[in-house]
Amino acid sequence: MNDHIQRPPAEVRYADELARLRESDDGDRPPGWALSMRAALRFVVGDEKLGISRKFVGDPSLIDRALVALATNRGLMLVGEPGTAKSLLSELLAAAVSGASTLTVQGGAATTEDQIKYSWNYALLVADGPSTRSLVPAPLLRGMAEGKVVRFEEITRCPLEVQDCLLSPLSDRVLAVPELTGPESMVFAKEGFTVIATANTRDRGVNEMSAALKRRFNFETVFPISDFDTELSLVEAEATALLRRSGVGAPPRRDVLEVLVTAFRELREGQTRRGDATDRLSGVMSTAEAVSVAHAVGLRGWFLRGEPGTAADLVSCLAGTAAKDNPEDLAKLRRYLERQANGRRGDQWQALYEARHLLPG
Ligand SMILES: Nc1ncnc2c1ncn2[C@@H]1O[C@H](COP(=O)(O)OP(=O)(O)OP(=O)(O)O)[C@@H](O)[C@H]1O
Ligand SMILES: [Mg+2]
Repeated sequence: MNDHIQRPPAEVRYADELARLRESDDGDRPPGWALSMRAALRFVVGDEKLGISRKFVGDPSLIDRALVALATNRGLMLVGEPGTAKSLLSELLAAAVSGASTLTVQGGAATTEDQIKYSWNYALLVADGPSTRSLVPAPLLRGMAEGKVVRFEEITRCPLEVQDCLLSPLSDRVLAVPELTGPESMVFAKEGFTVIATANTRDRGVNEMSAALKRRFNFETVFPISDFDTELSLVEAEATALLRRSGVGAPPRRDVLEVLVTAFRELREGQTRRGDATDRLSGVMSTAEAVSVAHAVGLRGWFLRGEPGTAADLVSCLAGTAAKDNPEDLAKLRRYLERQANGRRGDQWQALYEARHLLPG
């Protein structure tokens, strides 16, 4: 059945790894957890001996701290630049700790308390009045009742009043349903319930979040991948997997990916590998973006010409990602191709330079 799903949740994608970890898991588990903390760590950072793949690349001590935070009576807040795998990490942590990552609220300007806590089936509400039958639980209520991790994506994009509905679930571990009477009017959180929120530093900041709510979270910053080779291998592995799923018969070319990752890093940092200053783009040049451009480059080469994508495909794909609707970024990108791509060692740098006229405008 999963064959037709574009992206099954982590607990489905890695069901066999989770089963293997459960089998060999002899560590103590925090109350309500599906795995011990050590096994959860292995699930995220990988373990060659057990055949567990490395899913998040970065400082393993960040994962240690995140797991410890999840076992405390506070939530975990992952903050960082766009495209640094905050959402991926929250999904992996939820899958490891609860065996489920789908109790998720997607925050936005229009998010309401109903979408977070609970709402009603109006036909049943009119027929029966408020009852557990007419109650439609949303992720927060389900996570509390079932003792699971609730994910709150992009929490800072929600109105502040709406964010604050997490206060009593996080501090008193209880959610009131005032419409119901008797014991059902209070939902007490089972062991295992906690919240992982993510926030993007380019959106409205966490500064605006209420001090009361901030105190109920442990904050962890997720940084972009600092090492070139690590980033290159990640982009290669991810792009190869995406291309295979898209029906592309050839893996991406290593020399093209090298050019791609180098260009992304230089345009992100405003400095070339040799140390020369270059323009920094205002658009997002994250690893996640690099993966999606590498995917597009491979698709272009394969479906348009029947070969792996080249640096010329890269130029065509870059405009839509790097420059988006910002003409200044497009000009900076053009300058980069003219000044930085020319004369570098490697055929693909030359090809990149020669294809510069493919940039639109
Ligand atoms: N350190 C990393 N480890 C593993 N994958 C990474 C890493 N950094 C970036 N990626 C890539 O980025 C993708 C995840 O991006 P994700 O959407 O989780 O980022 P995000 O930080 O939530 O971004 P946004 O702020 O835009 O929501 C992964 O699927 C992977 O391809
Ligand atoms: Mg995200």
